[in-house]
Parts: sequence; C-alpha cells; structure tokens
Amino acid sequence: MTFEVNGSRLLQDLKDLAKIGNVGKGGSRLALSDEDMTTRRWLRDRMTEAGLVTSIDGIGNVFGYTPRADRHLLVGSHTDTVPMGGWLDGALGVMCALEIARAFMAAGQPGEVGVAIVSFADEEGTLASLLGSRLFAGAIRFEDVATATDPTGRILGEERKRVGLEGVEIARIDPKRHVGYLEIHIEQGPVLEADGTTIGIVTDIVGIGRCRVTFHGRADHAGTTPMNARADAAQALYGFATEFRNFMRREGGEGSVFNLGGARIEPGAFNVVADRAELLVEYRNASDAVIDRIEEAIATLSREAARDAGVSVTIEPAGRESPAAMSPSMIEQLARAAQRLQISARTMASGAGHDAMSLASLVPSGMLFIPSIDGRSHAPEEDSKPEDIVAGLRVLAEAVSGVLEDATKPQPTLKIVP
Ligand code: HGY
Ligand code: MN
Ligand code: MN
Repeated sequence: MTFEVNGSRLLQDLKDLAKIGNVGKGGSRLALSDEDMTTRRWLRDRMTEAGLVTSIDGIGNVFGYTPRADRHLLVGSHTDTVPMGGWLDGALGVMCALEIARAFMAAGQPGEVGVAIVSFADEEGTLASLLGSRLFAGAIRFEDVATATDPTGRILGEERKRVGLEGVEIARIDPKRHVGYLEIHIEQGPVLEADGTTIGIVTDIVGIGRCRVTFHGRADHAGTTPMNARADAAQALYGFATEFRNFMRREGGEGSVFNLGGARIEPGAFNVVADRAELLVEYRNASDAVIDRIEEAIATLSREAARDAGVSVTIEPAGRESPAAMSPSMIEQLARAAQRLQISARTMASGAGHDAMSLASLVPSGMLFIPSIDGRSHAPEEDSKPEDIVAGLRVLAEAVSGVLEDATKPQPTLKIVP
C-alpha cells in the first residue's frame, strides 16, 4: 500500500507550529503552560481538518484516529519543549505523523488497520518524566504524580486544574487496539552528521535517573559568624557537586553521562550564609545496574558533604526510566523502508529519552532519527536540513505502510493435525 506524503506541507506545518511559544530559533512550550495548551488545541484542529477522530485527554495527550478501522498503528511524539528549546525536538515526530495520516486518508484508508497519531504531554519531564506516555501506558497513576512540581514551583495537580483538564479521563493504551508505535525524532547528537548517514534506526534507548538533592543549613551573618560555627547549605552543595563529578569521572561506568542542570541557593545574598541549597541531578546509562550504583554514590557522597558542612540533606527522587529495547520487527521495517527508498541508514542507540520508552514493553515500538546540525538540541540553535526532514518523513511513511500491510495479512494459523 503506498500513500504519497507531501514534504513541503510538512515543512510549512513545522514552521507554523514553531510560531507558538516562539520556538522558532528558540522558545518555550513548557508542559501545561498556556503555550503548550494552545499548541494542543491547534494540533487537534489540524487533525480534525484531516478527517481524524480527535481528542485531548485528561493530561493533555492529543489523539487523532483515522475513522474506519478499529485497530491502529500509533505514530507520534511530543510538542512540549524544554525552556528555550528548539523547533524540531518532538515537533518533527508529531507533524510527520499528521502528514502520514493525511496521506493515508487521501489514499482511502486502505487495509484493515488505521493510523492513530499522538502528541504526548510533558515528554520533557518539566513536571514529571515522560508524563503523558507513562500515564497512557499505565506505568503510573495520576495520583502518583499529582504533587510533582517543576523547577519554578508549579504543582502538576494545580496546573492540570488551571488548564481545565481536571476530571477529564486520561486515555490508556490497548494492545489489542494499538498494533504498534513508531516515532521519528531528531538525533539531538553528533553521530549521524559525523557519519554522513541520513537515517538512524534506534536499537535501544538509554535509562535515565533524576533526583533533587537538598541541603538544609542555618542562615547566619556572613561576616561575623566564625567559619567553624556555620551550617552552610551552599558549601555542602558545592562540595557534593565536586565529589559527584569526580566519582562519575572515575567510576561512573562506560557510556554514563550526568548533568547538574539546576541549583537554587536560598536566601541567595552576598552577606547571608545559605540555609537551603537544592541541586537537580540527572544521570544516564544503558544499564539499570549502573544507574543503581550511581544512586548509591549520590546517597553516600551527599551524606558526607552534609556532615562536612554541619548540615542535613534530603534526596527526593524525580523520575527513573529503565533502558528500553526497540522491537526487532520495527527495526527490520525501518531498515527495509530506507533500503527500498535507497536512503542511507544505520542502527544506533539513543542517549536521549523518548516516549517510545513508555510503550516499548507493551506494543512493538520503533524509532528513527534524522541528523541534527552540529549535533545541537535543547537550544535555539537546534536545526536539521530540510532535505533530511523530508527524507525522514518518507522513510517513516514507507515503514508505516510496511507495518500496516503486515498487520493486515492473514496471520498464519497453527493447524493441529489429528
Ligand atoms: O531529556 C531527554 O533525553 C529528552 O529530550 N526528553
Ligand atoms: Mn524529544
Ligand atoms: Mn527533548
């Protein structure tokens, strides 16, 4: 089954989407912000125009189903961004999905299996890691995360109520209805560009751990309080950060990465000894056992730093995603699609987290990447060549067609010979 996708229409859609939250050349559509919800309503309207059955669920996941089938292949990604993010992270996957759904409708919805497109809520974990796809997968319940806060102090349950989603049902995956999941995404790293390869076929996605380490001291006069009489929360934070970095360099494990991406020192004045110091800690590895070892080191090193500074410390987990292997059948479909189109492709692991992690254990899931210029992402400079964007769309469409064809073929039945 072939259906014609339109690359220039996709590029225009991406440019239109980037205007919301000024994400073109940098902008924000943080989870459950006004910009995020404007995007979701905008996307639902585009899906309705395409003839899809649309909905926005109780956390903001946006769905569009082709109407004729009762089984669907899910294709999508996310439209929320990090603060001052780029125009393609997540957006590429959602707008490619819409373009494929349009082409599928124009081809008369061939076969028995349809296309369902999705933009998951809060993939970036501003409020809670992979929030929309983990709720959809049933990995968490809303009540487990309702009190989660973002770095500015917004509380998930309150934000959900503020945007009018409280009381709206949150959709759940049905492996009998959803035959699989495919997601295209920018690589967000340097591998494909360095390789001169157009398509990255993802074999597995890295595991991710996050926590908030908070040191609790005592506010004092920074001039008159003797150094050995202070309970300085900030000194504990700086000491922990240095020791943790040294640990990760020495024994963090092959392929491990970490980020100390946010810190808040209170009250935050030249002449006041800090009574509270909070550090955002993130660490990634392809193995759960290594991530466990890193978490043990965080507990030990933070206790030592607290004791040294005469303060106390609390560690609040802020998300833990296990590594996820992509489905061999989807890897095969993507490889065959690139081959048929004679577009260069290679397999690779993903150092970035994605919604596919949430679905991989429930339905056959696959991902493909296109190159990121200079390997940049999570920054206004994030960009990809238009020809790579269109090549990615074509490979995804070809793979969707292959999956739909296979899902429609009569499944071989075992004949029991008496
Ligand atoms: O953080 C990540 O890996 C993804 O961009 N959410
Ligand atoms: Mn993303
Ligand atoms: Mn991202």
